[in-house]
Amino acid sequence: MIEQKTFNNGFEYLEITNTSARAKIALQGAHLFHYQRVDRQPLLWLSETSFLEAGKAIRGGVPICWPWFGKHTTDRSLPQHGFARNSVWKLLGVTETNADSSEVKLQLKSSVESIKIWPYRFELLLRITIAQTLTVALTTTNCDQHPFEISSALHSYFSVADIKDVVVEGLDNAPYFDALTQENKTQKGNVYISEEVDRVYQKVNNPLTLHDRKRTVQISAEGSASTVVWNPWQEKCARMNDMQEDGYKTMLCVETANAMDDERTIPPGEKHTLTTIIS
Ligand code: BG6
Repeated sequence: MIEQKTFNNGFEYLEITNTSARAKIALQGAHLFHYQRVDRQPLLWLSETSFLEAGKAIRGGVPICWPWFGKHTTDRSLPQHGFARNSVWKLLGVTETNADSSEVKLQLKSSVESIKIWPYRFELLLRITIAQTLTVALTTTNCDQHPFEISSALHSYFSVADIKDVVVEGLDNAPYFDALTQENKTQKGNVYISEEVDRVYQKVNNPLTLHDRKRTVQISAEGSASTVVWNPWQEKCARMNDMQEDGYKTMLCVETANAMDDERTIPPGEKHTLTTIIS
C-alpha cells in the first residue's frame, strides 16, 4: 500500500507498507527517511531534531549526494553534496510486485535552475525496493552532448544500539583518504569507532558487514568501488543544529559511493547505476 502524506508544514512524503516492511520517502531529495522490517527496530537512523521542511536537508535516512560528493571542487558557495538532496523529485510510480515487495520509482531531470549550477542535461532515476532486503539504485543518464563527471553517494545513516560496540568488517587493507587529517592511509583490520571518523575508502570489495551487539547488517554495492564512513562524534555533533547532543552514539554512516578515485565519467547518451543492497 502507498499513501501520499503531508506534514503540517506542507512537507510531502510517501508511506509504503507491505508484509515485509514499512518505509517513508520524502519527495524532496527522493529521500528515504524511514525503513523498518516488520517486528524489527528501524534500520535507518533519523535525527530527532532533523528538519523535515522545504529547502533543508534531512539528517538521517539515505540522502542522495549528487552530482558531487562533499564540497564542490572549485566553487565553495555551491551546496555540499550537490543539489539532488534538496530538489523535489517526481514520483513515477510504485510497483507492488508481491505482497512483500514494493518498488518506488522517482525521477529528477535537469532544469533551468539546475543548469545554472551544473551545466549539463541529465535524468536521474531512483528505484527504492522495500522488501525484506532494502535496495536503493540511482541511475544517472547523460542527456547532454558533452560527457560529464559525477561523484555521488547513497549516504546511508544506520541506526546502532551503541557506537562503542560497532564493528565494520570488510575494509581490511583498503586504502582510504582521511578527510580529518587530509592524509592517505590504509585500513588495518576492522573499523571501530571511538572518535570522529570521516573517511573515503577506495577499492572496496563486497559485502561490508556492520555489527553492533544487537544485529548484523550486510551492505553490498554495485557500480561502486568506494565507501564513506562517517561519525561526527561529540564535539562536531554538539555544533550541528540538526542533531541532538548525543546523536552520534546511535548512528553510523556507511555510504555506498562513487567518490575520489571512483568518480565516474558518463559519455552522452550513456548511463551509470550506483546501487546499495542492505539486508
Ligand atoms: C559525510 C562527509 O559523507 O557527510 C562529511 O564525509 C560530512 O564530511 C557529512 O560532514 C555530513 O554532511 P552534511 O552536508 O549532511 O552535513
